[in-house]
Amino acid sequence: MNPEPRQPPSPSGLPVLGHTLDFARDPFEFTYNAIEECGDIYRLVLPTEEIYVLAHPKFFRQVLIDDVEAFGKTEDFQMAFGQGVLATEGDQWRRQRNILQPLFHRKQVAGYGDYMVEATQRRLEAWSPGETCDIESEMQNLTLEILFATLFGRELAPGEGNELRAASDGLNSWFAPTSWLLPNWVPTPSRRHFSESKEQLRSEIRRLLSEHGEKSKPDSLHQETLLSKLAEAREASGQDHLSTEEVEGQLLTMLFAGYETTAAALGFAWYALAQNPEIQQAFHEELDAVLDGDPPTHADITDLELTQRIVTETLRMYPPVHTIPRQTTRDVNVDGYQVPADTQVHLPLLAIHRDERFYDDPSSFRPDRWTGEFEDSLPDYAFIPFGGGRRTCIGREFATLEATLVLATIGQHWTLEWMGEEAISIEPEMTMKTQNGLPMQLRSR
Ligand code: HEM
Repeated sequence: MNPEPRQPPSPSGLPVLGHTLDFARDPFEFTYNAIEECGDIYRLVLPTEEIYVLAHPKFFRQVLIDDVEAFGKTEDFQMAFGQGVLATEGDQWRRQRNILQPLFHRKQVAGYGDYMVEATQRRLEAWSPGETCDIESEMQNLTLEILFATLFGRELAPGEGNELRAASDGLNSWFAPTSWLLPNWVPTPSRRHFSESKEQLRSEIRRLLSEHGEKSKPDSLHQETLLSKLAEAREASGQDHLSTEEVEGQLLTMLFAGYETTAAALGFAWYALAQNPEIQQAFHEELDAVLDGDPPTHADITDLELTQRIVTETLRMYPPVHTIPRQTTRDVNVDGYQVPADTQVHLPLLAIHRDERFYDDPSSFRPDRWTGEFEDSLPDYAFIPFGGGRRTCIGREFATLEATLVLATIGQHWTLEWMGEEAISIEPEMTMKTQNGLPMQLRSR
């Protein structure tokens, strides 16, 4: 006879507010402490609901692969991205993913490499030695510009980037853990900001669609774009057809998922390099030896071994998507515990990426840990910055190519020196961001 399913433990907290205050103060610290107190599975008790946190790679595998049908996307995704591929399910998701996939094939993405480098070089023309700049904001502007040109097929108009960034911020704040503390119908300032931002993004998207084809593409890009692909799918019939709502949903999703994530990885990579000058020095030496003064290209990537490891180690220590949420579609048994239907489940990537059971000295930035031998010995799903299973990130190749080429193009000519406080505070919205930016002094090499 099977034993009665048990409820997972819950960390100590105040009786009425549950874990609200401690969690809102510092969700990451709360998560580390809760795992220490309760083990790899626990219940986070909020006034609005209980969230089950599953903090072990074996649970990641169960949720993303083995029992994938039992763990659907949460309502929050649908509220934010409508009928975009990040939020849809079942046949609708499969059809959308098939339509979009060709844009992200390795060969297609490799063709964007030269534009990624050119856009970075153009931005560097405005840098002056000795100046202090917020590298987080700088990386957001750059990745938005690259996303626009490569996927949307047109360059940003002056001022347009700032408006889009502000609107996309509003979407991100919907996912801030502090906003989970009140029911969705309570009109908090961040929720009003969310609704306004969503409207603003929608009207920008409608404008993009209506002017599609009127403006010329950047000279160096002649590929099919997301806009042309979506316009085709809107006209098509049968399997390849997308409704206007779905087309808008894809654009909204790509705008959101496609630049802030890579910008976060780049910002934190510079932060880690500035904190570890000997690694920044070795990085410069690699760039000088491999590139010999020429701009980097897609063909150089395999030789830029340390640069690639810097990107990987940054994605470990600062995974831009720090938590993957899901909602159970039925009762599920996880490790002998009962998770009821319609329960939110969280996979805390950041906590696993910094778990000393899997990583020696996990709070040290050590790109050299990423040897082939180490990767072979790492348990499956102990490193999943891009998620896993069938919903794995569609932009993975795009993001890693972009991060490596942007780092190399900047590192060839500049040294970045940290000018901020000793510790940075991280704002855990859907994508990791700092509260006060990443101020760096720029020194030319
Ligand atoms: C370092 C950069 C990036 C990181 C860390 C990242 C991370 C992730 C993660 C963890 C997921 C899975 C979410 C889940 O299972 O709920 C995801 C999905 C997704 N990402 Fe990314 N991403 C990055 C860059 C990009 C880029 C550049 C694009 C597009 C240009 C993109 C588009 C998407 C889309 C459309 C999905 C949904 C896929 C699906 O559900 O089928 N991402 N990403």
